[in-house]
Amino acid sequence: MSEALKAFEDELQSKNFKGYWQNIQGDVAREPVPSFAPCFWKGKDLFAATEKAGEVVGLDVSFRRVIQLWNPALKNGTSRTLVLNLQLLKPGEDALSHRHMAGAIRFILKGQGTRLIVEGESFEIGEGDFVTTPSWTWHDHENHGGESMMWLDGLDAPLVRLLETDFHEPDPRKKQTVTKPEGYTLATVGALRPSWMKQNSIQPPAFCYKWADTERALSKVGEQPGDPYDGIVLDYANPLTGGPTLPTMACQIHMLRGSEKTKSHRHTSSTIYHVWRGGGVSYIGDQRYEWEQGDSFVVPLWNFHHHENTSKEPAVFFVMSDKPLMDAIGHYREDAKAD
Ligand SMILES: [Fe+2]
Ligand SMILES: [Fe+2]
Repeated sequence: MSEALKAFEDELQSKNFKGYWQNIQGDVAREPVPSFAPCFWKGKDLFAATEKAGEVVGLDVSFRRVIQLWNPALKNGTSRTLVLNLQLLKPGEDALSHRHMAGAIRFILKGQGTRLIVEGESFEIGEGDFVTTPSWTWHDHENHGGESMMWLDGLDAPLVRLLETDFHEPDPRKKQTVTKPEGYTLATVGALRPSWMKQNSIQPPAFCYKWADTERALSKVGEQPGDPYDGIVLDYANPLTGGPTLPTMACQIHMLRGSEKTKSHRHTSSTIYHVWRGGGVSYIGDQRYEWEQGDSFVVPLWNFHHHENTSKEPAVFFVMSDKPLMDAIGHYREDAKAD
């Protein structure tokens, strides 16, 4: 670098300017290069860590007893935009009401007998159920059953951190009062719905998708061709609009039929998988991951991936992705690998 250029750059810096040439290091990439790698977490390790947290971490130490599936390539989070956690709730434990900008979902892995209260509506949740607590909704829960409960806790918190838009408010009431009758939202978002409830909200109403309904839907469409890249896919749709689960994340159930092998593709959304049932193998980039029930993995954007069910029984994934974000800003691209 010439002395004149160095002096010019120093002068720019002293005035909080920067030359375009100062940002360029080598060639500009022609396509996305993710800064985080695929990552895989064994369910056995995750469940053991969560059980241990139940012994050594009191609720006085941690407001929530939660273990994050941390992608070490990131400062925090499972992907650049989303985080998946496992939460343990012991019998008799409850959590104080609060609300925050981050939108959240729960997928119940184990246990029965917990009430989740969102915006004054009580949802009784059990194994396989999926519940949303959209952005800025009051939520608290209590385990009134006799067994420990474990659920996946997914949030768009990494995105909110990036945007620096987080508001967080503890509820002065500590616990919410239930103000809506049981099944209130379910009764207002179907084919028959109150005329004053318009489809004009960015955020969906909090909603509980029962496992029995998911299982019934899988049995009804399980013989269809499905998606060549994901098998049989069920969207947890916004119950009012049919759009994505939350504006920032799409949650789905994927089922691979016995011995089903999907085609390979890549896309600009990043996807987190949790194995809910079955066993098989997934290929992400040049990595091969064998999975069984309880395992989780993340596919960063623009990595080719495909899956194979290595058993005769169906395999089922619970899946979270940031595709709605990419759709909203016109950045979604998908590319199939040539056979
Ligand atoms: Fe929360
Ligand atoms: Fe995919």
